[in-house]
Amino acid sequence: MLDKIELIKSEASSEFALIKDEKSLEDFRLKFLSRNGILNSLFEEFKEVSKESKGKVGKTLNELKIYLHKIYDERKESLESSSGKNTDSADISLPGLKYNKGTKHLINTALDEILNIFGRIGFSIYESDEIEDEYHNFDALNTPDYHPSRDMQDTFYIDSKGKDKQYLLRTHTSPGQIRVMENNTPPIRVIVPGKVYRNEAISARSLAFFHQFEVLYVDKNVTFRELKGTLNYFAKEFFGEQLKTRLRPSFFPFTEPSAEFDVECFLCKSKGCRVCKYTGWLEIGGAGMVDPNVFKIIGYDPEIYSGYAFGMGLERTLMIKYGIPDIRLFFENDVRFLKQF
Ligand code: DAH
Repeated sequence: MLDKIELIKSEASSEFALIKDEKSLEDFRLKFLSRNGILNSLFEEFKEVSKESKGKVGKTLNELKIYLHKIYDERKESLESSSGKNTDSADISLPGLKYNKGTKHLINTALDEILNIFGRIGFSIYESDEIEDEYHNFDALNTPDYHPSRDMQDTFYIDSKGKDKQYLLRTHTSPGQIRVMENNTPPIRVIVPGKVYRNEAISARSLAFFHQFEVLYVDKNVTFRELKGTLNYFAKEFFGEQLKTRLRPSFFPFTEPSAEFDVECFLCKSKGCRVCKYTGWLEIGGAGMVDPNVFKIIGYDPEIYSGYAFGMGLERTLMIKYGIPDIRLFFENDVRFLKQF
């Protein structure tokens, strides 16, 4: 049997020398290494070997086995790497791994930009809490008990049993005005950005929360003309063009006189189109001169101080600027949307 093993070893060596492709390598495997191949049949024969010879024959047979596997594995690997199949070596023709970097959300980029626009004309940032009490959200803003915005339908009240006050989710950033005035003395120039909450049915135009920013300027002799100038400045800086603005008489409990302000439709330049519903104008916020009653509540003398305030919805402003048709797009976080900004 030892001779036979020797013979097979030399046969395998000479056949092995002829292997040049995967096909001949496979033939070699079938012939020597497969289940019905020569190596296994030798192991079958080995069972018949006499007890005395078992040790020596077994050792030689095992050496053959190791040898055949070794040469087979080595050739397999070298064939694979020369045909580019080897997974261990780098294939420089493959596209690289893509690393997706995150970017700022449109809301944050826009807020930064707006805070900057007002920062350039001397306004500082004041952040006020999203959980407010009724006093700051309504009473101090001269909004009486019977005002419809205090209704449960519009406001998310927080269960305040056992608390000293009734708490709620702020419905606007205007309570930020009160907090600033309570803690400072004029001159005051602040912008209060942040989230606000309203109990609204969800649609393309409204969500139960959105962002606003509130601007407040209080000093001696502040006039309505300065309010208009600031609004024009903002519209020009933010929309990037000299867009006309317009103030329409309106009512807010905390300003007197009050106005809503529109910008010229940037799309049609006030000729009238679908976006502005053929009016030529787009409404972007509420504004006015701080009501003397608010000053009295704070403890400022309305004979000495005057001021203006305005508030805008951020999503609304962005929808106008970029022609975004549905407010829900901001928060679905679909990268196809977010990537565009
Ligand atoms: N708080 C008002 C709202 O949410 C917006 C507003 C109107 C803010 C007039 C003001 C203002 O500062 O003067 O609808």
